[in-house]
Amino acid sequence: MSGRTDEQNEPGMRDFSLDIEKGVADELGRKFLALAMEQLTNIRDLPVFPKTDASALKLEFDPVMPLEGVDPQKLLVECQSIIKGSRQNGHPRFFGYVASPATFPGICADFLASALNQNVTSWRSAPSATEIERIVIKWLGELTGFGSDCAGILTSGGSMANLNALTMAHRVKCEADVSREGIRNSGRTMTIFATDQTHHSVLKAADLIGLGRNQVRIVDTDDRFRMDVRALRQQIEADKAGGFHPFCIVATAGTVNTGAVDPLAAIAEIAREHRMWLHVDGAYGGPAAADKSKQMLFDGIGIADSMSIDAHKWLYSPVDCGCLLFRDARDARQAFSESSEVDYIKVYEQQQDEAFAFWDYGMELSRRFRALKLWMMMKYFGVRRIAESIAEDCRLASYMAEIVQASDDFELLAPVELSICCFRYLPRQIRESAHASGDKTTTTLRLNNLNAAIMHSIQRGGRGYLSNANLRGQFALRACIVNFRTKRSDIDFTLDLVRETAAGLN
Ligand SMILES: Cc1ncc(COP(=O)(O)O)c(C=O)c1O
Repeated sequence: MSGRTDEQNEPGMRDFSLDIEKGVADELGRKFLALAMEQLTNIRDLPVFPKTDASALKLEFDPVMPLEGVDPQKLLVECQSIIKGSRQNGHPRFFGYVASPATFPGICADFLASALNQNVTSWRSAPSATEIERIVIKWLGELTGFGSDCAGILTSGGSMANLNALTMAHRVKCEADVSREGIRNSGRTMTIFATDQTHHSVLKAADLIGLGRNQVRIVDTDDRFRMDVRALRQQIEADKAGGFHPFCIVATAGTVNTGAVDPLAAIAEIAREHRMWLHVDGAYGGPAAADKSKQMLFDGIGIADSMSIDAHKWLYSPVDCGCLLFRDARDARQAFSESSEVDYIKVYEQQQDEAFAFWDYGMELSRRFRALKLWMMMKYFGVRRIAESIAEDCRLASYMAEIVQASDDFELLAPVELSICCFRYLPRQIRESAHASGDKTTTTLRLNNLNAAIMHSIQRGGRGYLSNANLRGQFALRACIVNFRTKRSDIDFTLDLVRETAAGLN
């Protein structure tokens, strides 16, 4: 696989073409496939977190820009080092954040999308990719109960979907033409309603659209970390009485901390009463609507105005596949359409479908063919099988909670609503001394420090991975199970690892 000078001389290629000869390309492809397969098939035996640190990695990779091509064989070895220096999010005991493994059919589709290199900006730029994206959007509408008659757009992820949603809500509900007049001339101060469990991308979006983070009202949550509907109503009424313009409620279907699902039907009713936009952030939890045993939690989703859902979270897609679903395509155009102003991207087609352009529905112009990986894996496995996998993730989280509750050295810190289990290590000595002294503050601090140390040690140890959640001042070890490789034995192993790690800290 050497001889790049020969490749330059291949008949039919221009001098210094970056095309490579078919035989060479085939071999490179085969070797890269073998490399990827090795990583995927051995993932259970790889350390969850690499045995390395930042300074070692600085020495590992050559920082000098290559002016001449490097031997592909050497590149393959360097790629092996990249794999070795990676955190294995697809490992069956990776329970941090919200990170799922990618399915192999999805990976294949992502490769094909790169080969096609479609820039999915409009029907004209990518006819079949546009159609496929529109199809998967309808599928996501159907799967989540949002409704298959929806419109939508695939995004890089949930943060971008939330930003798009709040931009739309703001533009649609604003009393002025904010697009032209700007926020300073847009009338009453507009307010958004969320909770302290809402993902931080919502605050960031409020900041970016010029409303400011202080205009996000933080509504109380109940003992299951769900939005308190009475408090919501009171705060909206107080804002109205104070001269503000409450325009949007952000409910969450699967909070990032505990997986709580806000009472969507009751919230939808309040949104309707006050003519407010209801956005549901289902970036993590949305796919759980496909699990029959969780469907009732999603009642009311069918009347929300918009919903975020990340296929790269719980639909096991390769990363870079979020989605915003919305009820009415006109709302998106009101927020984002500019085709009449920008001549080089103007669509001259006469047929309405062919005049369709994604830039009228979101912020991005250049967009990769994200829909293909989702289309491929949904077709390959079928939604029933995917739903079964989601249901199993939920059962594993409940199983973990059962063990935690049955143990005298663990404490469950939040109910398991979907597939997240939050708990802490609570050794008998601390439990007993806390009981004797009655000093809650000191005990909480002690437990917080102990559990933070356990988490850090587990993360760097490479045998498992938990992240954390701050639940009303309590440091929780948090396991988010969105992984079709995880088994009960991985849960048992992880809980034993917590005990073993705690013992090793003393
Ligand atoms: C509920 C929720 N919303 C939004 C996001 C942001 O998604 P992304 O990381 O794809 O931008 C997350 C990420 O974990 C999330 O859990």
